[in-house]
Amino acid sequence: MTKPVPPLKALDHILPRPPILLMGAGPTPPTPEVERASATVFSHLGTTMQEIIKQLQSMAQYVFQTDSPYILGIAGPASAAMEMSMASLVWPGRKVLVLNLGTFSARFAEIARGLGGEVTELLPEPLDCFHVDQVQAELEKKSYDVLTIVHGETSCGIMNTECEEICRLAKSYGLMVAVDAVVTLSCLPIPMDEWQIDFMFTGGQKGLSAIPGVSLIALSPIAFEFVMKRTAPMPHWCLDVRRAWKFWGKGEYHYTAPVTGVLALYESLRLICEETLEKRFARHTQSTQLLQDGLLQLGLSLYAPESCRLPSVIAVRTPAGVEVKQLIAYMIEQHRVEMSGAFGLPIFRIGQMGEQAREHNVRRTLQGLEQSLNHFKQA
Ligand SMILES: Cc1ncc(COP(=O)(O)O)c(C=O)c1O
Repeated sequence: MTKPVPPLKALDHILPRPPILLMGAGPTPPTPEVERASATVFSHLGTTMQEIIKQLQSMAQYVFQTDSPYILGIAGPASAAMEMSMASLVWPGRKVLVLNLGTFSARFAEIARGLGGEVTELLPEPLDCFHVDQVQAELEKKSYDVLTIVHGETSCGIMNTECEEICRLAKSYGLMVAVDAVVTLSCLPIPMDEWQIDFMFTGGQKGLSAIPGVSLIALSPIAFEFVMKRTAPMPHWCLDVRRAWKFWGKGEYHYTAPVTGVLALYESLRLICEETLEKRFARHTQSTQLLQDGLLQLGLSLYAPESCRLPSVIAVRTPAGVEVKQLIAYMIEQHRVEMSGAFGLPIFRIGQMGEQAREHNVRRTLQGLEQSLNHFKQA
Protein backbone atom coordinates (compact mmCIF):
# COMPACT_ATOMS: atom_id res chain seq x y z
CA MET A 1 0.00 0.00 0.00
CA THR A 2 1.28 3.48 -0.85
CA LYS A 3 0.21 6.69 0.87
CA PRO A 4 -2.58 8.59 -0.96
CA VAL A 5 -1.55 11.14 -3.59
CA PRO A 6 -1.77 14.68 -2.09
CA PRO A 7 -4.11 17.30 -3.60
CA LEU A 8 -2.43 18.60 -6.79
CA LYS A 9 -2.20 22.06 -8.28
CA ALA A 10 -0.74 22.88 -11.69
CA LEU A 11 2.07 25.45 -11.43
CA ASP A 12 0.07 27.81 -13.62
CA HIS A 13 -2.43 28.07 -10.80
CA ILE A 14 0.26 29.17 -8.38
CA LEU A 15 2.62 31.37 -10.39
CA PRO A 16 1.55 35.02 -10.63
CA ARG A 17 0.04 36.23 -13.92
CA PRO A 18 1.13 38.65 -15.26
CA PRO A 19 4.65 38.09 -13.94
CA ILE A 20 6.02 40.40 -11.28
CA LEU A 21 8.80 42.88 -12.06
CA LEU A 22 11.60 41.97 -9.66
CA MET A 23 12.92 45.29 -8.33
CA GLY A 24 14.01 44.10 -4.91
CA ALA A 25 17.43 43.16 -3.54
CA GLY A 26 17.44 39.98 -5.67
CA PRO A 27 16.68 37.86 -7.56
CA THR A 28 16.76 40.27 -10.49
CA PRO A 29 14.86 39.67 -13.75
CA PRO A 30 16.64 37.15 -15.98
CA THR A 31 17.00 38.02 -19.66
CA PRO A 32 15.14 35.91 -22.28
CA GLU A 33 18.52 34.44 -23.28
CA VAL A 34 19.11 33.28 -19.71
CA GLU A 35 15.58 31.87 -19.45
CA ARG A 36 16.09 29.87 -22.63
CA ALA A 37 19.51 28.60 -21.54
CA SER A 38 18.29 27.55 -18.13
CA ALA A 39 15.71 25.24 -19.69
CA THR A 40 18.36 23.10 -21.41
CA VAL A 41 19.81 19.92 -19.91
CA PHE A 42 22.59 17.77 -21.36
CA SER A 43 25.51 15.78 -19.96
CA HIS A 44 27.75 17.66 -17.53
CA LEU A 45 30.79 15.72 -18.80
CA GLY A 46 32.22 15.58 -22.30
CA THR A 47 33.50 17.88 -25.01
CA THR A 48 30.41 20.12 -25.27
CA MET A 49 30.53 20.97 -21.58
CA GLN A 50 34.31 21.43 -21.69
CA GLU A 51 33.99 23.96 -24.48
CA ILE A 52 31.27 25.79 -22.55
CA ILE A 53 33.38 25.89 -19.38
CA LYS A 54 36.48 27.22 -21.19
CA GLN A 55 34.44 29.95 -22.87
CA LEU A 56 32.58 30.76 -19.64
CA GLN A 57 35.89 31.15 -17.79
CA SER A 58 37.33 33.50 -20.38
CA MET A 59 34.18 35.68 -20.25
CA ALA A 60 34.30 35.62 -16.44
CA GLN A 61 37.96 36.76 -16.58
CA TYR A 62 36.74 39.85 -18.40
CA VAL A 63 33.85 40.48 -15.98
CA PHE A 64 36.06 39.94 -12.89
CA GLN A 65 38.87 41.86 -14.65
CA THR A 66 41.44 39.22 -13.85
CA ASP A 67 44.14 37.30 -15.72
CA SER A 68 43.77 34.44 -13.26
CA PRO A 69 42.52 31.23 -14.89
CA TYR A 70 41.19 29.94 -11.56
CA ILE A 71 37.48 30.56 -11.95
CA LEU A 72 34.93 28.05 -10.67
CA GLY A 73 31.17 27.80 -10.67
CA ILE A 74 29.33 26.42 -7.66
CA ALA A 75 26.02 24.58 -7.45
CA GLY A 76 24.90 26.76 -4.59
CA PRO A 77 23.98 30.32 -3.65
CA ALA A 78 26.45 33.15 -3.12
CA SER A 79 26.68 32.05 0.52
CA ALA A 80 28.15 28.76 -0.72
CA ALA A 81 30.82 30.72 -2.61
CA MET A 82 31.50 32.67 0.57
CA GLU A 83 31.77 29.36 2.40
CA MET A 84 34.19 28.00 -0.23
CA SER A 85 36.45 31.02 0.25
CA MET A 86 36.44 30.64 4.04
CA ALA A 87 36.84 26.84 3.91
CA SER A 88 39.96 27.40 1.82
CA LEU A 89 41.52 29.97 4.14
CA VAL A 90 40.38 29.17 7.66
CA TRP A 91 41.04 26.32 10.07
CA PRO A 92 41.44 26.19 13.86
CA GLY A 93 43.70 28.97 15.07
CA ARG A 94 43.68 31.07 11.90
CA LYS A 95 43.07 34.74 12.64
CA VAL A 96 40.35 36.38 10.61
CA LEU A 97 39.51 40.08 10.54
CA VAL A 98 35.91 40.63 9.45
CA LEU A 99 34.78 44.12 8.49
CA ASN A 100 31.20 43.92 9.66
CA LEU A 101 28.90 46.34 7.90
CA GLY A 102 25.71 44.28 8.26
CA THR A 103 24.01 40.94 7.69
CA PHE A 104 26.17 39.64 4.83
CA SER A 105 29.47 40.89 6.22
CA ALA A 106 28.58 39.12 9.48
CA ARG A 107 27.98 35.89 7.56
CA PHE A 108 31.73 35.71 6.86
CA ALA A 109 32.28 35.79 10.64
CA GLU A 110 29.70 33.07 11.31
CA ILE A 111 31.26 30.78 8.71
CA ALA A 112 34.83 31.45 9.83
CA ARG A 113 33.92 30.73 13.47
CA GLY A 114 32.32 27.47 12.41
CA LEU A 115 35.63 26.49 10.83
CA GLY A 116 37.48 27.13 14.09
CA GLY A 117 38.95 30.49 13.10
CA GLU A 118 39.75 33.17 15.68
CA VAL A 119 37.46 35.91 14.44
CA THR A 120 37.65 39.61 15.22
CA GLU A 121 34.78 41.74 13.96
CA LEU A 122 35.41 45.41 13.32
CA LEU A 123 32.39 47.74 13.31
CA PRO A 124 32.10 51.03 11.41
CA GLU A 125 30.80 54.34 12.74
CA PRO A 126 26.99 54.46 12.46
CA LEU A 127 25.82 55.10 8.88
CA ASP A 128 29.35 54.96 7.52
CA CYS A 129 31.57 52.48 5.70
CA PHE A 130 35.07 51.34 6.70
CA HIS A 131 38.05 53.61 6.23
CA VAL A 132 41.64 52.63 5.60
CA ASP A 133 42.97 54.27 8.76
CA GLN A 134 40.57 52.30 10.98
CA VAL A 135 41.62 49.01 9.36
CA GLN A 136 45.29 49.96 9.51
CA ALA A 137 45.02 50.72 13.23
CA GLU A 138 43.62 47.19 13.78
CA LEU A 139 46.32 45.56 11.63
CA GLU A 140 48.98 47.40 13.66
CA LYS A 141 47.45 46.15 16.92
CA LYS A 142 47.27 42.44 16.07
CA SER A 143 48.48 40.08 13.37
CA TYR A 144 45.89 38.43 11.11
CA ASP A 145 45.87 35.78 8.37
CA VAL A 146 42.69 36.73 6.51
CA LEU A 147 40.61 39.84 5.88
CA THR A 148 37.01 39.71 4.67
CA ILE A 149 35.10 42.62 3.21
CA VAL A 150 31.74 43.01 1.49
CA HIS A 151 31.96 45.59 -1.29
CA GLY A 152 28.26 46.43 -1.21
CA GLU A 153 26.33 45.59 1.97
CA THR A 154 22.84 44.87 0.68
CA SER A 155 21.16 44.78 4.08
CA CYS A 156 21.63 48.53 4.70
CA GLY A 157 22.54 49.89 1.25
CA ILE A 158 26.03 51.00 2.30
CA MET A 159 29.11 50.51 0.11
CA ASN A 160 32.71 50.19 1.22
CA THR A 161 33.94 53.02 -0.97
CA GLU A 162 37.53 52.42 0.19
CA CYS A 163 37.44 48.73 -0.68
CA GLU A 164 40.37 49.02 -3.09
CA GLU A 165 42.61 50.79 -0.56
CA ILE A 166 41.62 48.35 2.20
CA CYS A 167 42.40 45.30 0.03
CA ARG A 168 45.80 46.73 -0.94
CA LEU A 169 46.52 47.57 2.67
CA ALA A 170 45.67 44.05 3.83
CA LYS A 171 47.93 42.58 1.12
CA SER A 172 50.78 44.84 2.26
CA TYR A 173 50.39 43.23 5.72
CA GLY A 174 50.54 39.76 4.12
CA LEU A 175 46.87 38.79 4.58
CA MET A 176 44.69 36.79 2.24
CA VAL A 177 41.78 38.94 1.10
CA ALA A 178 38.26 37.62 0.43
CA VAL A 179 35.76 40.03 -1.16
CA ASP A 180 32.01 39.64 -1.54
CA ALA A 181 31.14 41.29 -4.87
CA VAL A 182 27.63 39.86 -4.91
CA VAL A 183 25.72 43.09 -5.55
CA THR A 184 28.43 45.04 -7.30
CA LEU A 185 30.08 42.78 -9.90
CA SER A 186 29.18 44.03 -13.38
CA CYS A 187 27.20 46.96 -11.88
CA LEU A 188 30.18 49.09 -10.89
CA PRO A 189 33.96 48.73 -11.13
CA ILE A 190 35.58 46.07 -8.95
CA PRO A 191 38.67 44.98 -10.91
CA MET A 192 39.99 41.96 -9.06
CA ASP A 193 43.66 42.07 -10.09
CA GLU A 194 44.08 45.81 -9.74
CA TRP A 195 42.60 45.73 -6.23
CA GLN A 196 44.80 42.72 -5.29
CA ILE A 197 41.89 40.49 -4.30
CA ASP A 198 42.55 36.78 -3.58
CA PHE A 199 38.99 35.42 -3.48
CA MET A 200 36.10 37.22 -5.13
CA PHE A 201 32.62 35.85 -5.71
CA THR A 202 29.09 36.62 -6.81
CA GLY A 203 25.71 34.89 -7.03
CA GLY A 204 23.76 34.33 -10.24
CA GLN A 205 20.71 36.28 -9.11
CA LYS A 206 22.12 39.79 -8.67
CA GLY A 207 24.17 41.93 -11.07
CA LEU A 208 24.59 39.10 -13.56
CA SER A 209 20.79 38.78 -13.98
CA ALA A 210 21.19 35.02 -14.32
CA ILE A 211 19.35 32.74 -11.87
CA PRO A 212 19.51 32.05 -8.12
CA GLY A 213 21.23 28.99 -6.72
CA VAL A 214 24.46 29.12 -8.72
CA SER A 215 27.49 31.25 -8.04
CA LEU A 216 30.91 32.10 -9.42
CA ILE A 217 34.19 32.44 -7.58
CA ALA A 218 37.64 33.55 -8.78
CA LEU A 219 40.93 32.87 -7.02
CA SER A 220 44.16 34.78 -7.56
CA PRO A 221 47.12 32.52 -8.53
CA ILE A 222 48.51 33.09 -5.01
CA ALA A 223 45.23 31.95 -3.46
CA PHE A 224 45.03 28.91 -5.73
CA GLU A 225 48.58 27.84 -4.87
CA PHE A 226 47.82 28.37 -1.18
CA VAL A 227 44.79 26.06 -1.37
CA MET A 228 46.67 23.41 -3.35
CA LYS A 229 49.47 23.36 -0.76
CA ARG A 230 47.37 23.50 2.41
CA THR A 231 47.80 20.50 4.63
CA ALA A 232 44.90 21.02 7.05
CA PRO A 233 42.03 18.65 6.20
CA MET A 234 39.29 20.21 4.06
CA PRO A 235 36.09 20.61 6.07
CA HIS A 236 33.87 20.51 2.99
CA TRP A 237 33.57 18.05 0.14
CA CYS A 238 31.36 19.93 -2.35
CA LEU A 239 32.97 23.28 -1.51
CA ASP A 240 36.58 22.04 -1.66
CA VAL A 241 38.42 24.07 -4.33
CA ARG A 242 40.81 21.18 -5.02
CA ARG A 243 38.02 18.72 -5.75
CA ALA A 244 35.97 21.32 -7.64
CA TRP A 245 38.99 22.12 -9.81
CA LYS A 246 38.83 18.56 -11.16
CA PHE A 247 35.68 19.63 -13.01
CA TRP A 248 36.41 23.33 -13.62
CA GLY A 249 40.06 22.78 -14.54
CA LYS A 250 40.13 19.30 -16.07
CA GLY A 251 36.58 18.42 -17.13
CA GLU A 252 36.52 15.41 -14.77
CA TYR A 253 33.75 14.35 -12.41
CA HIS A 254 33.45 16.10 -9.06
CA TYR A 255 29.68 16.16 -8.57
CA THR A 256 26.98 16.38 -11.23
CA ALA A 257 27.32 19.98 -12.31
CA PRO A 258 24.23 22.24 -12.35
CA VAL A 259 23.99 22.15 -16.14
CA THR A 260 21.08 24.62 -16.41
CA GLY A 261 22.80 26.98 -13.97
CA VAL A 262 26.08 26.81 -15.88
CA LEU A 263 24.24 27.69 -19.09
CA ALA A 264 22.41 30.56 -17.37
CA LEU A 265 25.73 31.94 -16.10
CA TYR A 266 27.20 31.51 -19.56
CA GLU A 267 24.47 33.55 -21.22
CA SER A 268 24.55 36.27 -18.59
CA LEU A 269 28.33 36.62 -18.96
CA ARG A 270 28.05 36.65 -22.74
CA LEU A 271 25.51 39.48 -22.59
CA ILE A 272 27.77 41.48 -20.26
CA CYS A 273 30.74 41.00 -22.60
CA GLU A 274 28.60 42.06 -25.57
CA GLU A 275 27.43 45.17 -23.75
CA THR A 276 30.99 45.85 -22.44
CA LEU A 277 31.70 46.83 -18.85
CA GLU A 278 32.12 50.52 -19.71
CA LYS A 279 28.63 50.77 -21.20
CA ARG A 280 27.11 48.61 -18.49
CA PHE A 281 28.59 50.75 -15.69
CA ALA A 282 27.32 53.90 -17.45
CA ARG A 283 23.83 52.37 -17.76
CA HIS A 284 23.82 51.50 -14.06
CA THR A 285 25.02 54.99 -13.07
CA GLN A 286 22.29 56.70 -15.10
CA SER A 287 19.59 54.36 -13.93
CA THR A 288 20.38 54.54 -10.22
CA GLN A 289 20.57 58.33 -10.48
CA LEU A 290 17.12 58.41 -12.08
CA LEU A 291 15.80 56.23 -9.27
CA GLN A 292 17.43 58.23 -6.47
CA ASP A 293 16.25 61.57 -7.91
CA GLY A 294 12.75 60.16 -8.33
CA LEU A 295 12.64 58.87 -4.74
CA LEU A 296 13.73 62.26 -3.41
CA GLN A 297 11.09 63.97 -5.55
CA LEU A 298 8.49 61.74 -3.91
CA GLY A 299 9.60 63.23 -0.59
CA LEU A 300 11.36 60.06 0.54
CA SER A 301 14.73 60.04 2.26
CA LEU A 302 17.56 57.65 1.52
CA TYR A 303 19.09 55.70 4.39
CA ALA A 304 22.78 55.82 3.43
CA PRO A 305 24.56 59.15 3.12
CA GLU A 306 25.70 59.97 -0.40
CA SER A 307 29.38 59.51 0.56
CA CYS A 308 28.93 55.76 1.11
CA ARG A 309 25.65 54.97 -0.65
CA LEU A 310 25.53 51.66 -2.50
CA PRO A 311 24.19 52.54 -5.96
CA SER A 312 23.09 49.02 -6.82
CA VAL A 313 20.68 48.53 -3.88
CA ILE A 314 18.99 51.69 -2.65
CA ALA A 315 17.75 51.65 0.93
CA VAL A 316 14.83 54.03 1.46
CA ARG A 317 13.62 55.16 4.88
CA THR A 318 10.06 54.03 5.46
CA PRO A 319 7.83 57.11 5.78
CA ALA A 320 6.09 57.63 9.12
CA GLY A 321 2.74 55.86 9.30
CA VAL A 322 3.57 53.35 6.56
CA GLU A 323 4.01 49.68 7.35
CA VAL A 324 6.75 48.18 5.10
CA LYS A 325 5.09 44.78 4.72
CA GLN A 326 1.82 46.42 3.66
CA LEU A 327 3.59 48.74 1.22
CA ILE A 328 5.43 45.85 -0.41
CA ALA A 329 2.27 43.73 -0.62
CA TYR A 330 0.32 46.66 -2.11
CA MET A 331 3.02 47.34 -4.72
CA ILE A 332 2.84 43.71 -5.83
CA GLU A 333 -0.93 43.57 -5.80
CA GLN A 334 -1.61 46.87 -7.56
CA HIS A 335 1.48 47.40 -9.71
CA ARG A 336 3.10 43.97 -10.09
CA VAL A 337 6.40 45.39 -8.83
CA GLU A 338 8.41 43.68 -6.10
CA MET A 339 10.58 45.61 -3.64
CA SER A 340 12.39 44.21 -0.58
CA GLY A 341 11.95 44.78 3.11
CA ALA A 342 14.93 44.79 5.42
CA PHE A 343 16.62 42.91 8.22
CA GLY A 344 15.21 44.85 11.15
CA LEU A 345 16.00 48.35 9.82
CA PRO A 346 13.22 50.91 9.15
CA ILE A 347 13.81 50.78 5.40
CA PHE A 348 12.67 49.18 2.16
CA ARG A 349 15.04 48.46 -0.69
CA ILE A 350 14.98 48.83 -4.46
CA GLY A 351 17.56 47.09 -6.63
CA GLN A 352 19.58 48.52 -9.49
CA MET A 353 21.38 45.42 -10.65
CA GLY A 354 21.58 44.02 -14.16
CA GLU A 355 18.18 44.13 -15.84
CA GLN A 356 16.70 46.23 -13.05
CA ALA A 357 18.83 49.16 -14.20
CA ARG A 358 16.66 50.08 -17.17
CA GLU A 359 14.78 53.36 -17.48
CA HIS A 360 11.37 51.75 -18.10
CA ASN A 361 11.73 49.57 -14.99
CA VAL A 362 12.73 52.52 -12.82
CA ARG A 363 9.86 54.70 -14.10
CA ARG A 364 7.34 51.91 -13.55
CA THR A 365 8.61 51.44 -9.97
CA LEU A 366 8.48 55.17 -9.20
CA GLN A 367 4.97 55.55 -10.62
CA GLY A 368 3.74 52.58 -8.62
CA LEU A 369 5.41 53.89 -5.49
CA GLU A 370 3.88 57.36 -5.86
CA GLN A 371 0.38 55.91 -6.13
CA SER A 372 1.01 53.48 -3.28
CA LEU A 373 2.31 56.15 -0.90
CA ASN A 374 -0.72 58.37 -1.68
CA HIS A 375 -2.96 55.40 -0.99
CA PHE A 376 -1.42 54.88 2.47
CA LYS A 377 -1.46 58.62 3.27
CA GLN A 378 -5.19 58.72 2.58
CA ALA A 379 -5.94 55.52 4.46
C1 LIG B 1 26.14 41.12 -0.38
C2 LIG B 1 25.55 39.76 -0.32
N1 LIG B 1 26.34 38.72 -0.02
C3 LIG B 1 25.86 37.46 0.05
C4 LIG B 1 24.54 37.19 -0.18
C5 LIG B 1 24.05 35.79 -0.07
O1 LIG B 1 23.55 35.37 -1.28
P1 LIG B 1 22.68 34.01 -1.38
O2 LIG B 1 21.36 34.35 -0.79
O3 LIG B 1 22.63 33.74 -2.84
O4 LIG B 1 23.40 33.00 -0.61
C6 LIG B 1 23.67 38.23 -0.51
C7 LIG B 1 22.24 37.98 -0.74
O5 LIG B 1 21.41 38.86 -0.77
C8 LIG B 1 24.19 39.55 -0.58
O6 LIG B 1 23.40 40.58 -0.88
